[in-house]
Amino acid sequence: MTINRRRFLVVTGAAATLPLLTRAQAPSEAVTQSGPATDNDRPEYHFLAPHNWMNDPNGPIFWKGKYHLFYQLNPNAAVWGDMHWGHAISVNMIDWKHEPIALSPTPRGADAEGCFTGSAVVYNGVPTIIYTGVQNAPPADVTIRDGKSTLRETQMLATAEDDLLLHWKKLENPVIPKPPEGMQVTGFRDPTPWHERDGWYVGIGSGEKGKGGCVLLYRSRDMRDWNYLGKLAEGAPTGKTDSNPVDSGDMWECPDFFAVDGSHCLFYSTEGKVLWNTGDYDETAHRFTTRHSGILDRGAYYAPKTFLAPENRRIVWGWITEKRPDEDLKKAGWAGCTSLPRELHIAADGSLLINPAKEVEKLRGKVEPIPLTSGVANRRTVDSLRHELAFTVRTKPKSVAVRIKAGITTRWELLLDYTTGQVRCGEIQFAIPPTQAGSPDVRVFFDGSVIETFIGGREAITSRVYGLAPYAATLETEYEGPGHVQLLHWPLRTISKDRLTT
Ligand code: FRU
Repeated sequence: MTINRRRFLVVTGAAATLPLLTRAQAPSEAVTQSGPATDNDRPEYHFLAPHNWMNDPNGPIFWKGKYHLFYQLNPNAAVWGDMHWGHAISVNMIDWKHEPIALSPTPRGADAEGCFTGSAVVYNGVPTIIYTGVQNAPPADVTIRDGKSTLRETQMLATAEDDLLLHWKKLENPVIPKPPEGMQVTGFRDPTPWHERDGWYVGIGSGEKGKGGCVLLYRSRDMRDWNYLGKLAEGAPTGKTDSNPVDSGDMWECPDFFAVDGSHCLFYSTEGKVLWNTGDYDETAHRFTTRHSGILDRGAYYAPKTFLAPENRRIVWGWITEKRPDEDLKKAGWAGCTSLPRELHIAADGSLLINPAKEVEKLRGKVEPIPLTSGVANRRTVDSLRHELAFTVRTKPKSVAVRIKAGITTRWELLLDYTTGQVRCGEIQFAIPPTQAGSPDVRVFFDGSVIETFIGGREAITSRVYGLAPYAATLETEYEGPGHVQLLHWPLRTISKDRLTT
């Protein structure tokens, strides 16, 4: 590749997210040399590539009784570059089997420099991928407009040749070869398709310098001939200037548009974070209007993609990003993983509800209640780094804190301060949301260097904490009464004998 991920991330903004806890970052020498299969930093029940670098989840689809997950993969290094589509199959969204690479760049083809993010749908009974191909192009045709890139993005199609989705046939020529006439786009990628009564629609992540990001909308009868209709949604000028249009908010990556609970929702990734928008979709004007919006996850999370699981459940996968230098990634031999499956709903007040899918409970071992005495910290040395902790607040206390400690050093802390009404996790701070009836107030999933936290079914924070070791890490919980809080703990099982390296 002519650009590396560090620079591309700068281009795309994903590197702009601040480390959650700067002090929680492990020094380079702590990075294991023994390989990914025995690396304590490597999650044991989150899906990830067998080796090397992964980023966005791509084209998730349930087909013939199986869940398929594709993802951006660099098969040759633990840093971004040379994008292929990795592939894995699951029967339950928890246990995975790696499959051969599904899409690779075609030399001299329109995706010669990479098969970027895309989606999968079933068209005419055939699973069909629409994705972004990138190739080197003369300056006039370049669509990644950061002043440095030489890449042109086009939208490409591939059709499945077997029911396990192992073999894909690519159409040689792009189905959408260039952005709309007269538009100086900041980028043109990551198609999100859906079907309506009168045909197929696809939204493409884009934007214009100084005007904000947007989603460009196209329609087709056959997934091959596409006509530009206008903008499905557009942002406003952000007032920020940056050579990187994703950092300035002038480029929206990875749009994902879908119907849920009788309403519509649009996700996009920009300025290092993922925005959710719920609102109204006018099927005649083909415009989406945001009524409510928020941040899908306040931590190390980017470029999510949703799909429809059986029972009409809208599930989202997200990319859990790394928060350590490339040199550490190379030493570790792997980078990036996928968030737990999260089920999405829209609450009566228009907010997005985000909860771990019920399948995640398949990971649980025997439940154990943790006793809480006001002002007395409960400490347990953990003999693995796989746990779930859930607490339900019956009567509000002054505060509840959960910590991961190495020796006496706090490496990660989540504090719910009911006196101020604030949640704090490192530098992240926001108001404690109301909790959905019947759900725990907080669920925290610990897995190697990944901590995924769900609060009130409305907020999520993914954290990275490197260099913890089982038998040396302490899980600490503490509450300040008066109040009544129920705290439950489960050990979680691993989904693989070798941390999914084979
Ligand atoms: C988001 C992203 C997408 C692009 C892909 C390339 O992380 O930048 O916009 O298609 O990654 O790997």
